[in-house]
Amino acid sequence: MDRRDFLKAGAAGAVGMTFGSQLLFGKSTIIGANDKVVLALIGCGGRGLSCITNCCKINENVVIKTVCDVNRTKLARAAAAVEKEFGYRPGTTEDMRTIFDDKDVDAVWIATPEHWHCLAAIRACQAGKDAYVEKNLSVNIFESRKLAEAAAKYNRVVQAGLQNRSASQGYSAREYIQSGKLGKIVTVKTYFMLGGGKFNEAPTKPVPAWLDWEKWLGPAPLRPFSPSIVDENGRGGWQKYWAYSGGLLDDEASHTLDFTRMVLGDPGHPQSVYAWGGNHTFGGTSEVPEAQSVVYDFGDYVLTADGGPSYKYMQKAGQDIRNDAKRFPNWRNYSARVEIYGSEGLMYLGRHGGGWQVIGSGDKIVAEDGAIFPDNAHQKNFIECIRSRKTPNGNIEECHKSATLVNLGNIACRVGNKQLLFDGKTEKFLNSKQANALAKGTYRKGYEIPEKV
Ligand SMILES: NC(=O)c1ccc[n+]([C@@H]2O[C@H](COP(=O)([O-])OP(=O)(O)OC[C@H]3O[C@@H](n4cnc5c(N)ncnc54)[C@H](O)[C@@H]3O)[C@@H](O)[C@H]2O)c1
Repeated sequence: MDRRDFLKAGAAGAVGMTFGSQLLFGKSTIIGANDKVVLALIGCGGRGLSCITNCCKINENVVIKTVCDVNRTKLARAAAAVEKEFGYRPGTTEDMRTIFDDKDVDAVWIATPEHWHCLAAIRACQAGKDAYVEKNLSVNIFESRKLAEAAAKYNRVVQAGLQNRSASQGYSAREYIQSGKLGKIVTVKTYFMLGGGKFNEAPTKPVPAWLDWEKWLGPAPLRPFSPSIVDENGRGGWQKYWAYSGGLLDDEASHTLDFTRMVLGDPGHPQSVYAWGGNHTFGGTSEVPEAQSVVYDFGDYVLTADGGPSYKYMQKAGQDIRNDAKRFPNWRNYSARVEIYGSEGLMYLGRHGGGWQVIGSGDKIVAEDGAIFPDNAHQKNFIECIRSRKTPNGNIEECHKSATLVNLGNIACRVGNKQLLFDGKTEKFLNSKQANALAKGTYRKGYEIPEKV
């Protein structure tokens, strides 16, 4: 079936359509450039829909067969948006298992809230699908370790949605550091200084008709619905809850911490973590801290992550910087900056295409490299790897270690702002049973992640 036939067949909107692609996509074999790659979207919020649509625009022969959401409003809107953009209507489902059972689908795009990421991705691997999985990969350490095991066991291409892994400036910064020009790394500071406001959970209500609340909760404990958690049209406040996310450290620092690890040559786990956090700015009922500071001890150097709300003077990079490889952020008020202090210079590093600059003695810029926002590059890399079966840039083993930095910082806060000693080999804490319980998490019956994937 060629692209024109696909468009005609897709107009029928049937989930059960069969494709000649079944034969072509031998699941672990190389797929030719002219053969179609068939995707399905799980989680049709702003991020998932915009990324999968863009991916189909910038890559040849990539199509969306099915969209899946438990929010019926967003599901209908996603199907209509795909039809408007590409001229065919994808199938729709509220149950991701329909997609895993569909032999035509080569890869799934997982853009649910975080508590579903690993479970959905592991099930995808078990069903023989490749997967793009949004950040933060996991809500605990155990589940992204299991995802890395599943990707290896089933020989799947799993791309973490940490797009800076495809940023050109990350590679040039790593080369600069490895050449020795920055000298010995002494300390590394990362920031996630963003706006924010008071969060108070609204009173619980009956589950609205547009939502399958039980499936939205999935592995998380059952609880009554509150409109503060899930919004019919927007994101809602689920990132304020430990059961579904990990707050700003998860949302923002996941990127800077991962990018920093990559630039530093992907070190292993830190040997300890200390974290402080609290709701001292606005108050309210947010479970995740508004402000947080984390210190990771890597033996030779210390890595810190500092962030929180209300710093109105701190900003993300604007579109001008994201799209222009010759422009750099104003480092002083750049909310997502990384500072790598070497004995010979200080490297400022930006995500969102912010590039990097090295400051030497006398406040002189001694080296720099610009870049553009890496979403396109990351999406292209995913499709190339589905075709070639190479390991994608968002390599799941390394991205699990990056996600672990987020989980370590959050667990250290949750046990009462403590220093925790961590054994990188076993991925267990050496001085806290409570921390080890949080590192494993709990799963509702029917939604467990197995020890053996
Ligand atoms: N890489 C990046 O730069 C980047 C940027 C933004 C968001 N994200 C990540 O992308 C993910 C989605 O973010 P968003 O802003 O679109 O959130 P969102 O809440 O708007 O969308 C998530 C969607 O998943 C759906 N969902 C929940 N459970 C489901 C299930 N069991 N089956 C199918 N669908 C289900 C929800 O109903 C919702 O429509 C998050 O993990 C977020 O952290 C990444």
